Amino acid sequence: VDAGPEWAEEIRRLAAEKNATILAHNYQLPAIQDIAHHVGDSLALSRIAAEAQEETIVFCGVHFMAETAKILSPSKTVLIPDARAGCSLADSIDAAQLREWTAEHPDAVVVSYVNTTAEVKGLTDICCTSSNAVEVVQSIDPDREVLFLPDQFLGAHVRRQTGRTNMHIWAGECHVHAGINGDELTARAKAHPDAELYVHPECGCATSALYLAGEGFVPEDKVKILSTGGMLDAARETGARQVLVATEIGMLHQLRRAAPEVDFRAVNDRASCPYMKMITPAALLRCLTEGADEVHVDADVAARARTSVERMIAIGS
Ligand code: 13P
Ligand code: SF4
Repeated sequence: VDAGPEWAEEIRRLAAEKNATILAHNYQLPAIQDIAHHVGDSLALSRIAAEAQEETIVFCGVHFMAETAKILSPSKTVLIPDARAGCSLADSIDAAQLREWTAEHPDAVVVSYVNTTAEVKGLTDICCTSSNAVEVVQSIDPDREVLFLPDQFLGAHVRRQTGRTNMHIWAGECHVHAGINGDELTARAKAHPDAELYVHPECGCATSALYLAGEGFVPEDKVKILSTGGMLDAARETGARQVLVATEIGMLHQLRRAAPEVDFRAVNDRASCPYMKMITPAALLRCLTEGADEVHVDADVAARARTSVERMIAIGS
């Protein structure tokens, strides 16, 4: 399928006919981002899904995002153009493993990143995204133990920001972000000393970025650990001419749109999420034509998960 004007017109026509709103995550292919009614980070898209007026939500993102939309809007039809679009981070913990972990820490508050299955969310007290993880943990009584899952790098970032010592962190990771390594970041930063650094907290190299700042290789105010939405806010205000970006490369499209005068470069231009990229123009066309793939969440699981997801969307800006 050629994602040209005819395709775009057909997608818009079908969306209007089916009373559907198309949401796209910042890591989607440029053609998908451009056709969507809303583009954003996980938190912003969850909030939009919760308030959507349309009968159908077409979620161009990965499966846990569409599941979260269904949990928040159970009466709506939620579609994902390819239900095989999973997430290696969400796969790093399942409900049985979480039950075992909570049995070891029965009084702890369970904080799960939104990159988890609905079943895991059902065993969670508060969900968070990378935009509000610090605020979510700060909202918890400092005397209570916290179990933070599943991302170890986001967990380390939250621990650094909050100074919290009673926080246990699951050892999961996203294979795309973990693959953006510290050596690469260091080499790029040293080759472009005037550039700012935007680093997603899921990256293994976040520690290297802070080390570079701490050792004076990069001025401290140039290193920013940000969610994808936070990167866009920072881009709109930056005075820098060049920004090195450590996250999935789909992000560059929105950054360049937000600040066309800035030279945005990927720290690792192979950091492409194979799951996000399953949502092709052909898959979106098929989705709207056939009403597939539909996302279902078991009603009991959804009811258990809803409180933790609703707490998530209430916290943070
Ligand atoms: P955010 O959009 O919340 O920064 O999430 C990043 C991510 O990896 C989603 O898969
Ligand atoms: Fe999951 Fe990583 Fe892909 Fe995001 S980039 S969907 S965390 S595998």
